[in-house]
Amino acid sequence: MPTLPDTELRTDAAPAAEEQMAASGSSPSIHTSPARPNTVHPVSFVSVGKSFASRGKKATNARPVLRDINLEVVPGEVLAILGTSGCGKSTLLRITAGLDTASVGEVLIDGTPVSGIDARCAFAFQEPRLLPWRSLADNVALGLPAGTPKQAGRERVAELLELVGLSEFAGHRPREISGGMAQRTSLARALARNPAVLLLDEPFGALDALTRLKMQDLLLEVHAAAPTTVLLVTHDVDEALQLADRVILLGREDDSDSDSGATIKQIVTVPGERPRNRASAELATLRDELLAGLGIEPHGASASNSTGADLGSGALASMPSR
Ligand SMILES: Nc1ncnc2c1ncn2[C@@H]1O[C@H](COP(=O)(O)OP(=O)(O)O)[C@@H](O)[C@H]1O
Ligand SMILES: [Mg+2]
Repeated sequence: MPTLPDTELRTDAAPAAEEQMAASGSSPSIHTSPARPNTVHPVSFVSVGKSFASRGKKATNARPVLRDINLEVVPGEVLAILGTSGCGKSTLLRITAGLDTASVGEVLIDGTPVSGIDARCAFAFQEPRLLPWRSLADNVALGLPAGTPKQAGRERVAELLELVGLSEFAGHRPREISGGMAQRTSLARALARNPAVLLLDEPFGALDALTRLKMQDLLLEVHAAAPTTVLLVTHDVDEALQLADRVILLGREDDSDSDSGATIKQIVTVPGERPRNRASAELATLRDELLAGLGIEPHGASASNSTGADLGSGALASMPSR
């Protein structure tokens, strides 16, 4: 598998394949077909389970992380995935993208099983993972499908930078921009592929609260302009309620049973057109339900008295995001 140039500054120990999926539509290791514009696909999870071999033990002691995940995500749906740290959210996204394989069951995109890194998906992560020596425009261009003609590519990049409000910064380098702008660039790069399925793994988790709210609005605009099926992992209940058509809560059915994997404990259909009123009583009730599902009971003051964003993020502030 080809690796990115050594000069890349890695902010974490993410596997190289992930970075290629985020950053390069033209990597020879990724099966690429020119992306079909504006295709939106359903995603089906059929009895998906995943176990990892416990370190230092025999494979027979495999530790289950996910089990029995069954779900139909409809084309164009925004599905938020909530769950405590380590419950398998990222693993589920990685299986969807073909970056990892299910131990049992399968994921189908538009009826076709995912097998190997899937060019129909694009990934964006908590860290923007931009190439520091390249301009923002060149970073976005890395997401274009292989074989995109030069002029068409330039036009597409300009269009995407405009969509994320960065046209004036096209020639800037990542070090010259803020964290929010870097994350917008990362989103534009993921969209450059015209993905049928957009996988977002806590994409706004590292941003300050205000920037995060702006990014949530931006994601809604982007989704309205270029509909795609979105799987969004977040640890922020309010973010889930603001952005998603449905929210699933992953967790073990019996919290004390560490030998069983996490499954879908709760599915919440979020009412109302987006953008939603963050302070609505209806959302406050759902917020309480989801927080309770995460093992956090609201204290004293009722949730409906709070300003939405604060309760969700504040209440979860002590939860590690990854
Ligand atoms: N490649 C791997 N090998 C072994 N264990 C892993 C691997 N990837 C993830 N895990 C374990 O699986 C569990 C779920 O991880 P992850 O999907 O990253 O959780 P989340 O994203 O919900 O925080 C964690 O306990 C993690 O340590
Ligand atoms: Mg994770």
